[in-house]
Amino acid sequence: EKGGFEHFMLKEIYDQPRCMADCMRGRLLLNEKRIVLSTINMHRERLMKAERFIIVACGTSWHAGLIGKQLIEQWANIPVEVEYASEFRYRNPVISPDDVVIAISQSGETADTLAAFQLAKENKAMCFGIVNVVGSSIARASDTGIYIHVGPEIGVASTKAFTGQVTVLTLFALALGHERGTISKEEYESTIEELGNIPEKIKSVLAKDEEIKDIARSLTYAENALYMGRGFNYPVALEGALKLKEISYIHAEGYPAAEMKHGPIALIDENMPVVFVATHHQLYKKIISNIEEVKARNGRIIAVVTEGDEAVKEIAEATIEVPSTLASLAPLLSAIPLQLIAYHVAVEKGLNVDQPRNLAKSVTVE
Ligand code: F6R
Repeated sequence: EKGGFEHFMLKEIYDQPRCMADCMRGRLLLNEKRIVLSTINMHRERLMKAERFIIVACGTSWHAGLIGKQLIEQWANIPVEVEYASEFRYRNPVISPDDVVIAISQSGETADTLAAFQLAKENKAMCFGIVNVVGSSIARASDTGIYIHVGPEIGVASTKAFTGQVTVLTLFALALGHERGTISKEEYESTIEELGNIPEKIKSVLAKDEEIKDIARSLTYAENALYMGRGFNYPVALEGALKLKEISYIHAEGYPAAEMKHGPIALIDENMPVVFVATHHQLYKKIISNIEEVKARNGRIIAVVTEGDEAVKEIAEATIEVPSTLASLAPLLSAIPLQLIAYHVAVEKGLNVDQPRNLAKSVTVE
């Protein structure tokens, strides 16, 4: 049941440290500093000769795919395309037998994602599933894959499945890079070590919930909001905006922060809240100038920052600190406050958090 929480969504947000540990169990061997994935042991040759990965997914799972692309390209040096399953299946996409098509799906029943997978199969590509529900249609249609093992997700808004998907993609990209010799031993081992710290760090983000709730209150009457991030935090911005739309019914858009000046900046005035995901990574300085641009137009700035941040704090109306981590693992922490913001806004507005209007948990229609 809800384990003492008011809603499944909140329970599932709080479940994330444990879910991540479950997801990594037997796969992330901290003492030996290595990753073991049975799919790589069983399909080494086929995966090694992959010339390209095509990720097909919808919604939140598609956002996880955007993070997966960056991870696989960075560590395994294999090109990755990320496609909306609903678009991919109705075009004439170029699929070759050397491609590996990865379907990402919590439910394993999303009709468009399943159909995209079937198209891949007809074209003799390898079908690789990243799924939560064991034995689901997409799991059964897979040649191989990795379960995320986060347990049943009941809230319609996906939370723990997202962090589980990102965790699996991280393990897969690291293991693949290691096999291919495209990641340095140092980076492989230090990332493994830091992955082991993430569940505890998520706990420390959850401990800030009261603070996050107060900040969320300031969004209750907003009609619009923008979410901005760069690099690994760009898909997190998209995901934060989706969460706010679907359960709080506030129109929100996510953008890579530098795109702002190509149009969305025209929207900014004193009524526009802008949520920046501005943790301390390679693009930090760049995002600060994006934040200043919003400030100069009187936009209201809420920012997710790294503990100890000073520069953003000086400019923003409110900041939420998350522990420091590697850039590649940042989404696993920065997504959490955005989930909580959407949750608290929806509760404050008296909305049905676990079953928002017009939405179904698994979209089995086209
Ligand atoms: C958002 C959400 C949806 C799903 C999408 C794909 O919170 O839940 O956007 O992510 O419908 O569903 P799955 O992952 O089951 O294929």
